[in-house]
Amino acid sequence: MTPVSNRQIPPKEFDVERRQRLEQMIQIAREAGDMIRQAREAQDFSHQYKGGDELVTEVDVAVDRHIAAAIDHHFPGEAKLTEELAPDRSQLTEKGPLWIVDPIDGTVNFAYGHAHVAVSIAWAIEGEVQIGIVYAPFLDELFTAVRGEGAELNGQSITCSTADSLERSLVATGFPYARDKRAPLIRRLNHVVHHCRDIRRNGSAALDLCHVGCGRLDAYYESVSPWDFAAGLLIAREAGARTGHLYACPDGIPEELYGENLLVAAPAIHQALGDVVRAADAGKRLELD
Ligand code: IPD
Ligand code: CA
Ligand code: CA
Repeated sequence: MTPVSNRQIPPKEFDVERRQRLEQMIQIAREAGDMIRQAREAQDFSHQYKGGDELVTEVDVAVDRHIAAAIDHHFPGEAKLTEELAPDRSQLTEKGPLWIVDPIDGTVNFAYGHAHVAVSIAWAIEGEVQIGIVYAPFLDELFTAVRGEGAELNGQSITCSTADSLERSLVATGFPYARDKRAPLIRRLNHVVHHCRDIRRNGSAALDLCHVGCGRLDAYYESVSPWDFAAGLLIAREAGARTGHLYACPDGIPEELYGENLLVAAPAIHQALGDVVRAADAGKRLELD
């Protein structure tokens, strides 16, 4: 397939190309899912730690290698940002096409035998995500989106919830591996949990975003890495969710690939949730009704 280096391609051909790429990468995501399921059945993979406390298994690395090789085969020369083997974030500011891959989102869940695990693959051009694939192998759920064309779960169109009050909203978030970075997030959590229906910490940012997209969650906020959210964010947005950040993004990094202070929600509660989290950050006292 001809590498896409800019957006001068006629729109119709570009749409066809995106669809073809989506189909090819769905196949690869399913192969990755097979590897993950087989590894869990065999239970013979080693565990290591990176950066101190961050768990990584040899399955994360093997799946990363598999997806990267498939990208090189189908789309030679296109840049890749993959969590385990090519995590060089300087790619984010380069022009041209970029693949963004998390081979296993939810590694801790994977290692502990939970089902909430996903393969996440996004393809962006000039910082705009064009296709997103999030596949949950233990649930056999495939979330996909093409920019401007809506989002699907197992081939059926999805839409986000119509939640219009924070008090009746189910909100997901997560925490970084570094324990010393958690204290301000506990302050946020304290504020949010007092204003919403309840909180979920499911352990896969990619699936959290997809679940906002299909209404299993009403909102999600967190700071994560590009591979955690690039595909899921497109899926949530294409499903009608409002996507954005709690604060202005820095210049130079495309907003769709900037993972600090993400806030994604059913449109009617986005502002209210943002206000609660920002109040927590500002050290305001929790006001209970
Ligand atoms: C993690 C998950 C988790 C989020 C963490 C991520 P990993 O990704 O997405 O939900 O809270 O910040 O690092 O390590 O399982 O790929
Ligand atoms: Ca991840
Ligand atoms: Ca991962």
